[in-house]
Amino acid sequence: MGTLAGKVAVVTGGGSGIGLATATRLAGAGASVAVVDLDGDSAERVAGELDGLALQADVGSSDEWPGIIEAVTRRFGGVDLAHLNAGVTTGEADITEVTDEIYERATRVNVDGVFYGVRAVVPAMTARGGGSIVATASLAGLIGFSPDPIYCLTKHAVVGLVRSLGPQLADKGITINAVCPSIVDTPLIADMREVLESSGFPLIDVDSVSTTVVDLLAGEATGEAMVIQAGREALAFRFARPPGPRAGGTVGRMPPKEFAAHDQE
Ligand SMILES: NC(=O)c1ccc[n+]([C@@H]2O[C@H](COP(=O)([O-])OP(=O)(O)OC[C@H]3O[C@@H](n4cnc5c(N)ncnc54)[C@H](O)[C@@H]3O)[C@@H](O)[C@H]2O)c1
Repeated sequence: MGTLAGKVAVVTGGGSGIGLATATRLAGAGASVAVVDLDGDSAERVAGELDGLALQADVGSSDEWPGIIEAVTRRFGGVDLAHLNAGVTTGEADITEVTDEIYERATRVNVDGVFYGVRAVVPAMTARGGGSIVATASLAGLIGFSPDPIYCLTKHAVVGLVRSLGPQLADKGITINAVCPSIVDTPLIADMREVLESSGFPLIDVDSVSTTVVDLLAGEATGEAMVIQAGREALAFRFARPPGPRAGGTVGRMPPKEFAAHDQE
């Protein structure tokens, strides 16, 4: 997409942490920013500082997305960029202790919030001739993560959605990518910060993440899952290709085009 000046961005979870950093960076690059957050006060504060639009909303509620798009379009004329970033952890490692409420909250925000968000922004971006979407997944979307298996489940879902949609949305001039950071120094990990620091685990600063998000929003890449680790450049994760069939005459075959939209490298 090139320059971000004059573009219109929607940032979910924009009231804190990674979303706040992205919203700030986008505004600094000349974009108009809608800050969407469940915490209306945070959204107001951040939007006020960035001359943006504050929207108090639950991204996991399908019903709220038409109103989000309508409000952004009314204020700024359309939507070009989306950082679908709002997310929560469960704090529960023991699968037998994961209640319906814990499970539903995590899947609602982390999975439903991204799906409803993508579904809502794609028509708005298509109407503008294209756009860019970045979803915040996690390194836990690429590896097993025993301390929070349900969080891990939701972030794998985000990575799978992004990889599936890359080719499909390219036809509409829309890029979609995921960022997969290891542990980032935000309020989300506040209760574990001391433990992490005293163990010497290197935390990632939010600016490293927001830089990668904004580069993706401005770039041409699509369908990528960008790994972000402390002290190294962000890099696109390379997935191993699973073994193909071995039945006679079909060795290594992929499903027909009608079934599989694309051949993953
Ligand atoms: N901090 C980390 O270590 C880390 C690592 C990898 C990925 N992530 C992911 O980064 C994203 C942002 O997390 P963060 O660390 O900045 O956390 P954060 O808690 O600082 O910010 C998250 C924001 O999302 C908002 N939010 C929560 N539920 C919402 C909902 N239903 N609707 C709208 N807004 C909602 C919160 O009010 C908050 O402002 C999350 O998806 C998280 O899973 C975080």
